[in-house]
Amino acid sequence: MNCKTLEWKNKELILIDQTKLPTEVEFVTLNTLQGVFDSIKDMIVRGAPAIGVTAAYGVAIAANNIAIDTVEEFKTELLKQCEYLETARPTAVNLSWAIHEMEKVVASYMGDSVEELKKQLEEAAIDIHNSDIAINKAIGENLLSLLNDNDTVLTHCNAGALATSEYGTALSPFYLAKEKGMTLKVYADETRPRQQGARLTAFELFNAGVDVTLITDNMAAEVMKEGKINAVIVGCDRIASNGDTANKIGTLGVAILANYFNIPVYIAAPTPTIDMAIATGADIPIEERDGEEITIINGDYVAPKGVKTYNPAFDVTPSELITAIVTEKGIVRAPFKEGLKQLFENK
Ligand code: MRU
Repeated sequence: MNCKTLEWKNKELILIDQTKLPTEVEFVTLNTLQGVFDSIKDMIVRGAPAIGVTAAYGVAIAANNIAIDTVEEFKTELLKQCEYLETARPTAVNLSWAIHEMEKVVASYMGDSVEELKKQLEEAAIDIHNSDIAINKAIGENLLSLLNDNDTVLTHCNAGALATSEYGTALSPFYLAKEKGMTLKVYADETRPRQQGARLTAFELFNAGVDVTLITDNMAAEVMKEGKINAVIVGCDRIASNGDTANKIGTLGVAILANYFNIPVYIAAPTPTIDMAIATGADIPIEERDGEEITIINGDYVAPKGVKTYNPAFDVTPSELITAIVTEKGIVRAPFKEGLKQLFENK
């Protein structure tokens, strides 16, 4: 893995600018809450786990910038800023999950030193960052146990190193396979409209020497029909307690196709992406983005200016189309409601 998605250095957050990849590798340095908010909203950083880790550092940054020295007033101001940060993007639950983890640090601090609380917040953000790396590695190992040498996997969007702190979730097994001398091949869907598959998945796997073949989204059925695909592995932005899974728009179509062709569908799922508070996928808020993501490519209109568009950024795959939800704590199969509940009971 050659790309460091995010780095914490001297109380600043350095992000690779994912809007510029693959043609330019540029970094942005963030030291304000607004900068962090805008980077999430404008998708300089994207991918559910990376959004969560960024948000945790965002809270640490916000805390460092608050010049109030009475603890109660400091807490009130910080919680207000946390509330704002939570509105940056709606679908990936990792954003609110990470902010709530940071809020727990605020709530449990009973001392009288704002400086000490700021220190604890920074440490908590670093912990969230480090635990994301460990989670991804464990998910990769669990996914590998479902694959055979020489298998070919189709993936959609980017749930790789760029979408996380390291390794990725859905792409983690390919990096681990390489480390272990096992051969796996990947077909990456382009993933319109923002082309995360072409710009990010193909970029990171190609640079890491993983055998990756890029296809446009409408080719997935054909490669499945040709018998080229042994498994589908995708990431997720939020999983409801019954296993319904929100992921990048187009995932639902891929899952329907895979079921038709009897290909297993695996969801690579860090437990912070599982939202046990909601019953089904119908409760997942789906982000709708600007229609110009569809009508403009590389600055040029590819559709009549002003034409009506509809641009949901995510869709929900019902749990009956999912073969297994692969977490860092184990592999969950149907009935998902029971299996997911057990994950959180056996801590
Ligand atoms: O809009 P994006 O690029 O943030 O969407 C990303 C995805 O849908 C990923 O598949 C998901 O966040 C999992 S990342 C490990």
